[in-house]
Amino acid sequence: MLSYHPMQPVRLDVNAGSRTSTIWIGDGLSDTLRQLLDDAQVGARRVVVSSPTIWKLHGARIGAGLGVDDPVLVADGERSKTLQSVSRIYEALIRTGADRGTTLVAVGGGVIGDMAGFAAASFLRGIPLVHVPTTLLAQVDSSIGGKVGVNHRLGKNLIGAFHQPLLVAIDPSVLATLPRREFRAGLYEVVKYGVIASRPLFDRLAARTKALFARDPEVLLPSIVDSCRIKAEVVTADEREGGLRRILNFGHTIGHALEAITHYRRFRHGEAVGYGMLGAADMAVARGAMAPTERSALASLIASLGPLPAVTDLQADDALDAIRRDKKVVHGRLHFVLPTQIGATAVVDDVTEDELMGALVRLGLTPGTSR
Ligand SMILES: NC(=O)c1ccc[n+]([C@@H]2O[C@H](COP(=O)([O-])OP(=O)(O)OC[C@H]3O[C@@H](n4cnc5c(N)ncnc54)[C@H](O)[C@@H]3O)[C@@H](O)[C@H]2O)c1
Ligand SMILES: [Zn+2]
Repeated sequence: MLSYHPMQPVRLDVNAGSRTSTIWIGDGLSDTLRQLLDDAQVGARRVVVSSPTIWKLHGARIGAGLGVDDPVLVADGERSKTLQSVSRIYEALIRTGADRGTTLVAVGGGVIGDMAGFAAASFLRGIPLVHVPTTLLAQVDSSIGGKVGVNHRLGKNLIGAFHQPLLVAIDPSVLATLPRREFRAGLYEVVKYGVIASRPLFDRLAARTKALFARDPEVLLPSIVDSCRIKAEVVTADEREGGLRRILNFGHTIGHALEAITHYRRFRHGEAVGYGMLGAADMAVARGAMAPTERSALASLIASLGPLPAVTDLQADDALDAIRRDKKVVHGRLHFVLPTQIGATAVVDDVTEDELMGALVRLGLTPGTSR
């Protein structure tokens, strides 16, 4: 296993066709953000977008670190991820006289990052963007890869763009204030990276779960670095989700279905992905594509992260309907990411509805028709 010096920031590069993004990961990076931006040749005119919650907790420190004290604050939380919020960001940009040389700095979780990122992608046909992610999910997932966007009343993430950030500055120490459930929600994505690409990451999570929850930088920092490295490598190879990027969807087909049939109210996204990973592993074992001991290792890691919301009152049929409606069904074929062992996956397109049904029922959903 690689060893990291917790005090020494780690640099990763994402080369995603259109542009190179630099990711810096370091404990305490918040205090030296201005230097980091200057070194990355980010223009001197910077507008910060954050949320009242985040700014109250971290504004003094991050604001001082950035040398900016008048952020644009918009509410976060999934319900605020709308074009109206983006419009408020445009308004603030126009009022401050922002031009194409102005950099938008998004300080927050995935919701702020996606909204502010979309504002940056579209304002004056695109202004530079920097992400300072403050949730675990944003640090390992949403701030990397260039996807930005908002929800529409009729569906999640329907309006969006690709806009690679110039710089992503990740400081794990800001996660100290993150509520436990939000932290766990991000952890499932970290588990995902372990399953799709790194047995050492998976093993570290399993062996050091307690230290991880204590947010011990010795465990947290390398886990974030590994996750970012995996996402960066996949995105570099495949910016727009043609082939390889699909492996990042491991656990997401069933996960999205569970979120949709509970109207995005019951699960944090990561929790639904937790079920999705279990379901996919179960299908892999049922096909003889993965050893049962590997599925058990995944099941015990997921169980050790804490309880997942119940699914026993949900109808497997409804989940199957939702999967059929999923946008990842291309030409009637469902691309499905199945693990072959911890650390390796395969993308298949011959998953049958019977197989899916079996997995959903074994997850605890109710079989049979409800209507
Ligand atoms: N762009 C992508 O590639 C991508 C990938 C995955 C998810 N997403 C999107 O990310 C969003 C979810 O992001 P999220 O889980 O970060 O949710 P979020 O941004 O709503 O943040 C969750 C909560 O944590 C609070 N918070 C943020 N940082 C905090 C901190 N340091 N301490 C205490 N509280 C803090 C926020 O105020 C909020 O209440 C979804 O909208 C999803 O679609 C995007
Ligand atoms: Zn996800």
